[in-house]
Amino acid sequence: MIILGCENLTQSNVILTEPTLLKVENLSVNRSGKLILKDINLVLRKGEFVGIVGPNGSGKTTLLLSILGFLKPETGNVEIYGNPPMSRKNFDKIGWVSQAASYLPKGIRITVRELVRLGTINSRNLFFELDKIGRRERVTNAIKMVGLQDVENVNIESLSGGQRQRAVIARALASQAEFILLDEPLVGIDRGTRNDLLKLLDRLCHDEDKTVLMVSHDLTAIRQTAHRMIYLEESIKFDGSTEDFPDLQTLADLRGIKPVHDQSFNHNHS
Ligand SMILES: Nc1ncnc2c1ncn2[C@@H]1O[C@H](COP(=O)(O)OP(=O)(O)OP(=O)(O)O)[C@@H](O)[C@H]1O
Ligand SMILES: [Mg+2]
Repeated sequence: MIILGCENLTQSNVILTEPTLLKVENLSVNRSGKLILKDINLVLRKGEFVGIVGPNGSGKTTLLLSILGFLKPETGNVEIYGNPPMSRKNFDKIGWVSQAASYLPKGIRITVRELVRLGTINSRNLFFELDKIGRRERVTNAIKMVGLQDVENVNIESLSGGQRQRAVIARALASQAEFILLDEPLVGIDRGTRNDLLKLLDRLCHDEDKTVLMVSHDLTAIRQTAHRMIYLEESIKFDGSTEDFPDLQTLADLRGIKPVHDQSFNHNHS
């Protein structure tokens, strides 16, 4: 467990024999000249389900974009399977569901099946029909995994927010990614669908040996599912097993937030 700068990266409930999938070392990232991430150290092992929480603007999306290699670090280093994030060796291994990924542009005419099929396209098969049957099977399986078989030929536009969210997750699954990063996948979906999605992600980690790194504002939901939690606010303020995640008061202390109502105020109004 890490609280405020401890260096120990060992997680209590992680099988330490599992191979390291992600290693982030001393990562600092600037955006438009402003320091957004400071000295991030993070190790993820295969099969982990890790939740990232933190206030608006605390750098959660910036961290995911840096891990993916879209943003260049000021200092430090990111390795996925021992290679730089954009390395060809990581080809097909990383699935990315961006913040608001399910808000597709209006007027786009694409069915669930077509959208999921996009997940199987890469630079090797873009112009050639390689492994047509295998790809078709992957698309069918991914749609089944998220429970959208009944609407697979329906236009994305006519789906609910939750169904659309499941479709973009299926697109990531169809790519056969082993490492799935999701940025706020629970926004705008009802409680039932949210629980189904969390169960699906949990099952993927347990049964399919996928590794999930998920950003969410929904602290209650993420605490029920993630094995490990990270609290990010410019730097990592907490990294440890979900059971050890601090209560709201301790979090406020970590953030240096003082109670609004002081003692005298309470006395005067009691
Ligand atoms: N393209 C950009 N250029 C400059 N600064 C940016 C850019 N995008 C984000 N920022 C700034 O970086 C900081 C972190 O943003 P980021 O999107 O990583 O936060 P977040 O934790 O994902 O927030 P949210 O919970 O709202 O999604 C914010 O102060 C934001 O204003
Ligand atoms: Mg964000």
